[in-house]
Amino acid sequence: MIIKTQEELDAMREIGHICALTLKTMIDALEPGITTRELDEIGAAVFRQYGAESAPMACYNFPGYNCISVNDEVAHGIPGDRIIQAGDVVNIDVSAVKNGYFSDNAASIALPPVLKSTQKLLDVCKSARNKAIASAIAGQPLNIIGRTVEKEAHRHGLKTIVNLCGHGVGHTLHDEPDSVYNYYERRDTRKLVNGLVIAIEPFICAEDSYVEEMQDGWTLKTPHRSQVVQCEHTIMVREGKPPLILTALD
Ligand code: CO
Ligand code: CO
Repeated sequence: MIIKTQEELDAMREIGHICALTLKTMIDALEPGITTRELDEIGAAVFRQYGAESAPMACYNFPGYNCISVNDEVAHGIPGDRIIQAGDVVNIDVSAVKNGYFSDNAASIALPPVLKSTQKLLDVCKSARNKAIASAIAGQPLNIIGRTVEKEAHRHGLKTIVNLCGHGVGHTLHDEPDSVYNYYERRDTRKLVNGLVIAIEPFICAEDSYVEEMQDGWTLKTPHRSQVVQCEHTIMVREGKPPLILTALD
């Protein structure tokens, strides 16, 4: 969506805050021994408290409130009886809707002991996302986002997942523009405009560059079951200054 009024901005700030708070609450509860279903319920309780609804459940009938993907699960992992262990890498992706407005944020968290290679993925993913956000200024080409993400990954000898993308968000979970690529797509001629709301979400991996869907019809993994990490913010593009991060907690 393109935010044009103060009312729209206030509504997008509110749902962004709810998504950020839900993600933070789930991260704080993440520890060895908890099941992914219990973690999901903790997120659902925050949605209820603030009058929001799970977006994947409302829009796609996803069998959970939040996507929780562990280790070689890259995205769209289904909450269930799986017990979180020391050393697990857990991706929590929270998207929700309130009063017809949607927002989306996510993070990968590594529980100790953390492999050096995993810490590197986490660090590069966050710097790629933050640099991509900083580059997204009105008037710039939309593909500056993927170009920035890819450059940061390559600079560290890492890869981006090319068939998972960021996206517009606001009136729907997956709004215009679709396919905000995580690599430099030269043929993409779209431009960033003032007020445009997009979810920026790089996926970073050392070995693989694409994911496949598993038998359950949801869970995504790479061909070699490699570790992938992702992090995500919903932002609003502005003129002459870096975007407003709608899913930042402060
Ligand atoms: Co998300
Ligand atoms: Co998203």
